[in-house]
Amino acid sequence: MKILDMLYEGKAKRIYATEDPDLLVMNYKDEATAFDGAKKGIIDNKGIVNNRVSCLLFNLLEKHGVATHLVKQLDERNVLVRRMEMIPLEVVVRNVIAGSLAKRLGREEGEVLPVPILELYYKNDELHDPMVNEYHAQALGWATREQVAIMQQKALQVNQVLQPFFDSIGIILVDFKLEFGLAKGEILLGDEISPDSCRLWDKETLDKLDKDRFRRDLGKEAEAYQEVVRRIEDALSDMSI
Ligand code: TMP
Ligand code: ASP
Repeated sequence: MKILDMLYEGKAKRIYATEDPDLLVMNYKDEATAFDGAKKGIIDNKGIVNNRVSCLLFNLLEKHGVATHLVKQLDERNVLVRRMEMIPLEVVVRNVIAGSLAKRLGREEGEVLPVPILELYYKNDELHDPMVNEYHAQALGWATREQVAIMQQKALQVNQVLQPFFDSIGIILVDFKLEFGLAKGEILLGDEISPDSCRLWDKETLDKLDKDRFRRDLGKEAEAYQEVVRRIEDALSDMSI
């Protein structure tokens, strides 16, 4: 697949056109940002880890009936995906209280929730991704009520696949963020699922194996990312992608 012009550069990835108008290449970078770009750094080989983790997890999700943009991993940092019109919403699923939920509601991090919490955020760095609901999405033209309901149902389905999978490799899936897009009218899971977009805690030690190491200056970011990809590859090594 010939890689053509760069169409877009985000904080962690670049998007390229290909000879096929329906397909794009996503290129993963090592640059890390937090707090809507206010904090910047590099996590060595993050791009390689996130591409691999995301491809393996999207493949696992496809096997469980969740439609995604994944076509195939091209090499260490590049993946071929279906072109989509992105819906400017972030869907967050939480199994354990952490991060902004702990802060907003004055709760301790680590409290296990009896049922998952679903949240929607409007994707806009300048506004610091404000929390919104399905009424905002409909009234402001980001997605119809039906599309929001589909994204929420898919997000819970993703959780039902990934939570037991991570548990099987000794990791608590605390929370994660998903993004969706439209390809020929169909809602597909897009973007990435990686230690950048999830909170992943070691089940035994509760060590953080995700981007909170960078956000909170905990050190050993690259090692944590490597540990995640190592465990996922060990579990899914027989899966061809
Ligand atoms: P939060 O607790 O900061 O709201 O984050 C919830 C989850 O969403 C966490 O797994 C990290 C992920 N996330 C992103 O992927 N991108 C973001 O911009 C933010 C704020 C969170
Ligand atoms: N992704 C956001 C940023 O780059 C925030 C975060 O992940 O903490 O600033």
